[in-house]
Amino acid sequence: MSNRRDFLKKVGLASLATSVSASTLWSKSFSEINKALIPSLIPPPGDDFWAWVRTNYTVSSNLLNLNNGGVSPQPKFVQEAFFRYTEMANEAPSYYLWRILEEGKDAVRTKLANLCGASDTEIAINRNATEALDTVIHGIELKKGDEVVLSKYDYPRMLSAWKTREKREGIVLKWVDFDFPENDEQKIADKYTSLFTNKTKVVHITHLINWAGQIVPVKKIAAVAKQKGIKTLVDAAHSFAHIQFDVKDWDIDYMGTSLHKWLCCPFGTGMLYIRKEEIPNIKTFFSEDLAMDQGSIKRFEELGTRASTAELAIGEAIDFHLAIGAERKQQRLYELKKYWVDQVKSHPRVKILTPESSALSGALGLVCIEGIEASDIDTYLMSEHHIHVVGIKYEKVNGIRVTPNVYTSLDDLDRFSKALLLLCDKK
Ligand SMILES: Cc1ncc(COP(=O)(O)O)c(C=O)c1O
Repeated sequence: MSNRRDFLKKVGLASLATSVSASTLWSKSFSEINKALIPSLIPPPGDDFWAWVRTNYTVSSNLLNLNNGGVSPQPKFVQEAFFRYTEMANEAPSYYLWRILEEGKDAVRTKLANLCGASDTEIAINRNATEALDTVIHGIELKKGDEVVLSKYDYPRMLSAWKTREKREGIVLKWVDFDFPENDEQKIADKYTSLFTNKTKVVHITHLINWAGQIVPVKKIAAVAKQKGIKTLVDAAHSFAHIQFDVKDWDIDYMGTSLHKWLCCPFGTGMLYIRKEEIPNIKTFFSEDLAMDQGSIKRFEELGTRASTAELAIGEAIDFHLAIGAERKQQRLYELKKYWVDQVKSHPRVKILTPESSALSGALGLVCIEGIEASDIDTYLMSEHHIHVVGIKYEKVNGIRVTPNVYTSLDDLDRFSKALLLLCDKK
C-alpha cells in the first residue's frame, strides 16, 4: 500500500491514497458508495475562477498543449473517480463491474440526457463518436438509389462508412463543399438543402467542423429536411459540452459524440442519441438480446464486458462541467480563441479560416501562414517552442488547428502567438 500511496502522491492524487477501501463497501449499493466517496466541488467566486479551473487539471509545466480538440485531458476530479472505480473493480471484477458499477450507469445516462435535452430512454453510452455515428450509418435502412447529403469536410471515418454503403449497396452520395470561413448561416444551410431531392433519405451534418472550427446551422437544415421526410444525423463530436444545443429544439433524429473531447471524460467514452420513435428502425450490428424491447436504446449497448470504470466517471466529468457552467464555458472557450486570433490576424502572411462570430465558431481556430506548409508550422512550434498543435492539410485547408481548453491561460496564448509571429517574420 505504501508504494501505491507514494505513486499517487507523485502524480498529485494524494487524496486517493486515503480513500475508503472498496472491500468495506461491498455490501452497499452504487449510490451509497458514490455518496460516501465523492468530494464536493466548490469553485471560488470572482477573479480566481479560471485559475481554480486550471489547478483542477494536471497541466504540464513544459509542454503547452493546444490540441484539446483531438482529445481533452480529464480534470483531477475525474481522474480520481476513474482510479477509485478501478480500484474497487479490481477487488472482485465480475461483482463490482457487472453488479455494482452497472447500477450507476443509468444515473450517468440521465445526466447525459439532461445536457442535450434528450430523454434518458434515447441515450446509449458507448466508446466514441465513431461507434455512435457508424451505428446509425450502418444501421439505417436504405436501398439502391437512395440519396444521402453530406460534406467533404465531415470526419473521414464517417465518410468511409457512407462510402462502404455506396460501394456495397449502391446508395448515392451528394457532396456539399465549403470555402472557409463561411459567414452567412443561410448560405451554409442552402448548400445542404439545395441538394435535397425526392430520393434523399438522410442528411449528415457535422455541427462543428473539426478542420476549420466552422459551425453549421443544424436547426435550419433539419427544419427543411423534416418537411421533406429526410432524417437528420448530427456529428456533435466537437460541439457537445462546448456549444450549447438541445436535440429537441433542433428536431433531429440521431446524434453521436465523443465524451473524451469537450466533456473531458475518460478516454474511450462516447454517446449516441436516437429519437425515441426511430430506435426500432435502426439495426444493431453486434449481437442483440432478442428478448429486449426493439424500442429500447440499450439494444445499442450489447457489447459484453465493457470499460464500466470509465463510463461511471462520466458522471464526475458532468459535475465538473456543471460546476463551470455550460454557458460560461462556451463563452470562455470562444474568448480564448478570439484572444490569440486578435494577436496574429493582422500579420500580412496570416490567414484565419475560422469565422469570427461566436454564432459560427467556438474554441477551435485554424490559421494558415502564406508560403509555409501546415506540417512545417506544427514541427516548428513543437521543436522550437514545445507547443503542441495539429497541422492540417486536407482538401482546401493547409494550416494549424489551435484549440485551447478551460484550463488554458492567457499567458499560454501569449506564448503561442509570439512563437507564431516569430515564424511569420522569418524569410
Ligand atoms: C468531427 C469529428 N467527428 C468524429 C470524430 C471521431 O471521434 P472519436 O475518436 O471519438 O470516434 C472526430 C475526432 O476528432 C471529429 O473531429
